[in-house]
Amino acid sequence: MNAPFDRPRRLRNTPAIRRLVAETSLEARHLVLPMFVADGLDDPRPISSMPGVVQHTVDSLRSAAEAAVTAGVGGLMLFGVPKPEDKDAVGTVGTDPDGILNVALRQLRDDLGDSTVLMADTCLDEFTDHGHCGVVRPDGAVDNDATLARYNEMAVVQARSGAHMVGPSGMMDGQVAAIRRALDDAGFLDTGILAYTAKYSSAFYGPFREAVGSSLQGDRKSYQQNPANLREATRELHLDLSEGADIVMVKPAMLYLDVLRRIADESDVPVAAYQISGEYSMITAAAERGWIDRDAAIAESLLAIRRAGADIVLTYWAHEVATALH
Ligand code: PBG
Repeated sequence: MNAPFDRPRRLRNTPAIRRLVAETSLEARHLVLPMFVADGLDDPRPISSMPGVVQHTVDSLRSAAEAAVTAGVGGLMLFGVPKPEDKDAVGTVGTDPDGILNVALRQLRDDLGDSTVLMADTCLDEFTDHGHCGVVRPDGAVDNDATLARYNEMAVVQARSGAHMVGPSGMMDGQVAAIRRALDDAGFLDTGILAYTAKYSSAFYGPFREAVGSSLQGDRKSYQQNPANLREATRELHLDLSEGADIVMVKPAMLYLDVLRRIADESDVPVAAYQISGEYSMITAAAERGWIDRDAAIAESLLAIRRAGADIVLTYWAHEVATALH
C-alpha cells in the first residue's frame, strides 16, 4: 500500500546520498581573504576583537598572502592601516604611491604576479583623521562629488601599484562610473571594479574599526544603506551595472541573505558577499565559550551565503577553509 505522503528523507539517509544531491558547494576558489597591512609595525599586531586576525607588517603580509594563495583561495582583498599621525582630512596617504597600501600592493603583485586576483579597498576611511569614507564639508556632511575626485586618484594609484581590481566601498553616488572613467583615461582598461553595491550601515563592522584603527566618531548613515531597505539595493545594483561594475557585492552577508538573493537574481555579473568582521567575531566568540561547534558553524555560514546567491565570498576564514577543502 502506498504511503499517503512523499518521503524526502530518502535523499538524506547516508552521507553518500547527501553528497550526491547537495545543491550548493564551496570551493577554495570561491573565497577571498581580506588582509590588513599596517605602517610602522615591527611585528604583526593581533586584533583583539578578531582573534586569529592580525595587522600585518609588509613582510608578514607577504608570507601570509603566499600561503593563502598556495592553499587555493580565489583572491586577496587588501586594507591599509597608516600611522595615526599620517592621517589627514582628505586621506592623502591613501593616494601616496609610498603610502602603506600602495607599497604593499606593489610588493604582493611583484611576489604573486597573476597567480591570484589582487584587490584593494578603495576608500578613504582608513586614511582620514575624521574616519569618514569621504571628504567632509564644513557643515559636517560628506561631500559626494569631492570624494569621487579622491576615489579616482586612489583607484589609479592602486591600479598602477598592481591591483587587478579596485574595490570602492564608500557608497558614494556615481563612484563606479567615476572610477571606470579615471582608470580608462589612465590606460588601465583591464583593471576591474569590484563594486560594494549594497553596503548597509551595520553595527557589525565594529571589530573592523579596531582592525584599521578607525578614528570615526558618529556613523555612516548618510552614505551606507538603511538596514530597513531591500528595494534600494536593486536600485544600487542597476546603477552599478550601468556604470560598469565587473563584480557586485553585498555586505554584510549573514543578516542580508535576502538582499543577496535578490541581487543574485537580477545581476548579470558575478556576485560577491562580504562576511564581515562582526560575523567573524560572533562565531569566534561563541565557539571560544564552547557554545557552538566552530568549524561546523563556519562551514554552515559560508554554505548559506553561497546558497543565497554569492559566487564569491570574502571571509577572514578564507585561508583556513581553503586549506580544509584541499
Ligand atoms: C570601508 C570598509 C569597511 C569594511 C570594509 N570596507 C568599514 C566600514 O564601512 O565601516 C568593513 C569590513 C568588516 O567589517 O569586516 N573602507
